[in-house]
Amino acid sequence: MNNNTHNYISNSDIKIGLPAIEFKQLLNNRRTIIISDENLFCLYPQVFEGFDKIILPSGEDTKSLKTVELLISEFVKLNLDRNSFILGFGGGVICDITGFVASVFMRGLNFGFIASSLLAQIDAAIGGKNGVDFGNYKNYIGCFNNPEFVICDPILLKTLPDNEYKSGLGEVLKYAVIQSKNELFNYLNQNAEQILAKNQNSLNVVVNQCVKTKSDIVAKDPFDKGFRQILNFGHSFGHCIEKIENIPHGIAVVYGMRIALKLAVKKGLLSSDSQNNTLKLFAKFGFTEDIILSDEHFKILAGDKKKNLDLIKLVIITDIGKPEFVNFKIDEIKNLLK
Ligand code: GLY
Repeated sequence: MNNNTHNYISNSDIKIGLPAIEFKQLLNNRRTIIISDENLFCLYPQVFEGFDKIILPSGEDTKSLKTVELLISEFVKLNLDRNSFILGFGGGVICDITGFVASVFMRGLNFGFIASSLLAQIDAAIGGKNGVDFGNYKNYIGCFNNPEFVICDPILLKTLPDNEYKSGLGEVLKYAVIQSKNELFNYLNQNAEQILAKNQNSLNVVVNQCVKTKSDIVAKDPFDKGFRQILNFGHSFGHCIEKIENIPHGIAVVYGMRIALKLAVKKGLLSSDSQNNTLKLFAKFGFTEDIILSDEHFKILAGDKKKNLDLIKLVIITDIGKPEFVNFKIDEIKNLLK
């Protein structure tokens, strides 16, 4: 499945398996500025050779309006014009900020991504969401705009720290559980060892399946008015756990999915067999533990932006591949989890 081009999203080419360095063939001789972070600049200096570049500090703090201002003043110094091209080379933070600044500078320049983390390849770089944080409020300033292309090169994942790879696998498992035809679920069950060993062909299949699943969902609700929130399976609990436990996003999402599975079984919406099969798949990827929610978690859950009065709209599954929205009262969640 190497070098596949997928036009799953109307105006983005998702190039899965294309070596990152081949990005030059997609630029059509346009003047290009690369935005990236310190880690990638050290790891892959060959990508930057011959290009103007802006290297940002790694980490979520970079996703701010202050960085947008800094980038715009660099663009002005570099004399960019409306024909210039902006390339974001990085994980979720770099893709989000590059997409945003490219979309607003001079009312919008063309841009593309080389997604360097598993999370970026299967989620952040796909679906047209760009933005920055506003203080503690994540992604409060942003826009929908698709990159011209996204390169997903599995070789880049070799240098990803273990915890970040595990975090990406957490989101892969989410797609596997919500994907309607169970193709990814079955593939992960049969190929866990190869995926954990970062086998390149297996990673191409996994990224391909995730991108297709996300793109199909986004195509039905590109501006996130309702249905797209099915992608938030495990995320309501996951967000509280991520904050309190201070653990990577995708790892917290797996804890969140375990809670959502338990709730669905307790409410009689999901069979114990389907729950057990899902938990067995999670275990193959090293996810075996539960987190018991505390009052602190519930406080954050009650303030979650998906809240409507005292009701929380959660994504649960009624079977593997069958996600649904169900409203829960906070007290009901507390009782069912006792
Ligand atoms: N990461 C969820 C979405 O793109 O809607």
